[in-house]
Formats: sequence, structure tokens, C-alpha cells
Amino acid sequence: MNEIRPIEWANGTLRLLDQTRLPSEEVIVEAHGYLEAVNAIKTMQVRGAPAIGVTAAYAVVMAARDLDIPDRSTFLQRLAKAGTEIKAARPTAVNLMWAVDRMLDLANSETDTARIKERLLEEAVSIEKQDEEINRRMGSHGIELMPDGGSVLTHCNAGALATAAFGTAVGVIRAGWEDGKRFKVFNTETRPFLQGARLTAWEFKKLGIPSTLVVDSAAGMLMHRGEIGCVITGADRIAANGDTANKIGTYTLAVLAKENGIPFYVAAPISTVDMSLSNGDEIEIEERNSSEVTEFRGIQVAPEGIEALNPGFDVTPARYVTAFVTEAGVARPPFIESLDLAVKSA
Ligand code: MRU
Repeated sequence: MNEIRPIEWANGTLRLLDQTRLPSEEVIVEAHGYLEAVNAIKTMQVRGAPAIGVTAAYAVVMAARDLDIPDRSTFLQRLAKAGTEIKAARPTAVNLMWAVDRMLDLANSETDTARIKERLLEEAVSIEKQDEEINRRMGSHGIELMPDGGSVLTHCNAGALATAAFGTAVGVIRAGWEDGKRFKVFNTETRPFLQGARLTAWEFKKLGIPSTLVVDSAAGMLMHRGEIGCVITGADRIAANGDTANKIGTYTLAVLAKENGIPFYVAAPISTVDMSLSNGDEIEIEERNSSEVTEFRGIQVAPEGIEALNPGFDVTPARYVTAFVTEAGVARPPFIESLDLAVKSA
């Protein structure tokens, strides 16, 4: 199968499949310096927690490469400043901060600037490679959760486009299909940015997995009618107790799933678990421009001047999550213990 890889490092340039143009056009945008990579994250040309992390790692590579400062200590100070700018690109997905910190830690452990630059590139390449491997491992672990017959619902885009390759929640669905299981797939359109309609539906089509697109608000009715066997989503940040930040609307799906006796699964790499946060109340939620709600592709759809609120994410309390799929295996409640174990074993 021709794998979807939204991020490519080629000859010192970061090449990104522009996710704002899909599905109508497959356009590559190039970032030649770290600020261009930051801009690509801010404008959602690249999005999805692990993909943002990989992009951030290459942004650090470019920031270091473009620093012409032989003094190690001044070099590291300037690199840390660039790291702070990269981390500020979006607030919710912890993979962004995780990747920048991992890169800066490595830089601090090296003795001279030429060596730092060399090692940073090796590290970014390995973060990208590891992400795909981790996703494939998650896929294998998640097969047991996928039904044979019945149906699965996913939200937003937690596919290859949101990662280096293969995807998290969509990766689990894919692994189930590749294992020979057959089930119906529903995916939500994911208002207002339409990651589900534009990106996940595009991926399922490329994978040859038949999927049915539904508006976000149809999920409850489908669950009530017994048409959804389980829900699986990705995550942007998971607190130590299992509270999970993910695309706006995830909490609604999780509560509806519990109400209807349907398992609710979250597939995410360990790099998405933020052990520094005891619960989800501490997760910063991105507030996006209200024009995404009041306009549709530049056309005003709400009365001019109306106030609109556009939170990009919500937090699903851990009690609504049936299990997490990570590269370390399937973690079940109590998550305070099973996630801790998963983090330690990764
Ligand atoms: O705003 P986005 O498109 O970056 O949000 C993406 C999500 O919420 C995904 O579900 C999450 O990042 C997991 S991606 C494997």
C-alpha cells in the first residue's frame, strides 16, 4: 500500500502535505526555516498531536542549523529561545512541548555546536521513524478491541495525516481490517474545521476501508439505534489520571457512549501522556478564531457581528474511557496505575 506520509525532510527542507487544501488538492508546502514550520503548525497545514511533534522536532533542527554562533553557551541560549517560540505555536497537544524538550535536552548534552546540529538532525529523524513504529505497535495492540461485525465510530482525524504515518485511532481501525476483521466504519465530519469530512474520509478512501460520514450531532441517534459498536479517538493530551483532551465533541461522544453502554477507546502514544498534570482541569484548551464558526470557506453563514465561541478541544473525564491503546499495550482502569505502568515501560 502507498503509505500516507504528511511530513518529509528532504535536502534541508521540511515538506508538508498541506492539510488545509485536502481533499480537493494534494499540495506540498515547504518550510525552509523554523519560523515557516511554526507558521505551518499555526495555520493547520500540519495538525494532529504526533504530526505537530515531528514538525516541531525538524523546526528545532532548522533553528539550530541557521544559528551561526560558535560559542556553545550563547548558541544554546538562542536555541532555547527558538524552542519557546516553537512550543507556543499551539497550546493543547503536549507532543509539541515533548518533542521540543527532547530536542533541547539532547542539544544540552552535546559539547560543541557542530556536533549539536548533527545530533539534532539524527534525533528528529528518529522521532519521525519511532512515531510510525509506535503507531504500528498501537495498531497491533488495538486489534483485540475491534469487532468482527458491528461498527466503529471515530472523530476528527487521528490517521496517518495526524502522525508521521499509519495513525493512532485510524491505525487501530486499519490494523483490525488488515487482520481480516470486518466492521462498518462511521466518521464524524468534525465541525468546524472538518478534519473528519476532509481528512479522515479521504484516508479511509485511500485505505480502501468503506466509511460513512455523519454530522457530529448524528452520533447520539446512531448509538441509541444500536448502530455503533464502539468509539475510538485519538488524544492531544492525557493527564496522569486518564482525563483526555481531544478534538471538541469528543466529550459529548464519550458521555453518549456510556449512556448507551458502548465502549469508548482512546489510542495515543505515551508522548501524549502528560504525567506532570494530575487531572484534565489543568490542560490548556486552544481557543480558535470565531470566524471558523460564523463562516464557511469565507462565506458568512451567521448574522454579521454575532458572537461565537470556538474551543478547539474538550476534556473527557477518565471515567468515560473504557481503555487506552498505547505502544505499551491496552491500559484499563484504574488509569492512575495502568498509565503510570505504560509510561514507565515505554
Ligand atoms: O486541531 P487538530 O486537527 O490538530 O486536532 C487533532 C485531534 O484532536 C486529534 O484527534 C489528535 O491530535 C490525535 S491525532 C493522532
